[in-house]
Amino acid sequence: MGVSVDTVLVDALLKSAPKPKSPEPPKDEAAVVPIRKASRTVTDWAKVARAEAKTAQTLDALADAIRAFDGSPLKAGCEQAVVFDGVAGASLMVIGEGPGAEEDRRGLPFVGKAGQLLDKMLAAIGRTRTGNVFISNVNYWRPGGNRNPEPDELAVCRPFVDRMIELAKPKLIIAAGGVPATSLLASKDGIMKLRGNEYAYATPDGFKAPIIPILHPAYLLRRPQDKSRAWRDLMLIEKRLAELGG
Ligand code: URA
Repeated sequence: MGVSVDTVLVDALLKSAPKPKSPEPPKDEAAVVPIRKASRTVTDWAKVARAEAKTAQTLDALADAIRAFDGSPLKAGCEQAVVFDGVAGASLMVIGEGPGAEEDRRGLPFVGKAGQLLDKMLAAIGRTRTGNVFISNVNYWRPGGNRNPEPDELAVCRPFVDRMIELAKPKLIIAAGGVPATSLLASKDGIMKLRGNEYAYATPDGFKAPIIPILHPAYLLRRPQDKSRAWRDLMLIEKRLAELGG
C-alpha cells in the first residue's frame, strides 16, 4: 500500500526549519589560519632580518635588503631608510643612534648639525667620510618626535647592523652616543661610564673588532663643556687605530 504525502505540508515544514550551521573547521586548521601580517612578533621580524642579512654578500645588497624590510614599526612614519655613508672597507666605522629629520630627508647618516660636528671631530684625527671612514647607525628609520629608538625597534635592525659590520670589516668601531653603546655592548651602564674605554665586539658569526664609545655630537652641542672628554676619546681612537694598522 502506497504512502500518501502531503506535499504542501512538507514544503511548509522545510521552509520554517532552522538552517544547519556550516561545520566548524577542525581545531588544527583554525590554528594555522594567519590572522594578519602585522601579528608577527619582534622575534619573528628579527628572524626575517637575520635571513635577509645573511644572504647579502655586499654592502649595497645589504642596503637594498634593509630598504625592502617591513619589520620596523618606524618605517611607515618616515621618508626613507637611512643606511650608510662613507668608504666601504675603511678601517674606522662610526655607528650612531639613528636618523633625525635632516638624515630622513636626505637619506644619509649624520648630515644634520650633529653630523657636521661629527665630521669636525673625525677631521681632528685625520678622518673624512669621503676618504677613510664608514658611517651607519643602529636604527635605520627616523623615530617621530626626535625620541630615542625603543628596544624593539633596535632589535629588528640588529641582524643588519651585525652583517654590515661583517661586510665593512672595520679595524675599530666608534659607538657614537649612549644608544649604540648600550645596545651593542648590551650594557646597563650609561655613556658617561662607557665612553673612552675599549671593549671587544663580536658578531654572532664571529667577526671581531674593538669598539670605543664616545659622547654623541648632539650631546656635545648642548654641553660644549664636555668637549675635552670627547677630545680625550678621539686621541685614544687615533692611537688605537695606529696600533691596529688602520
Ligand atoms: N644622530 C645619529 O646618531 N645618527 C644620525 O645619522 C644622525 C644623528
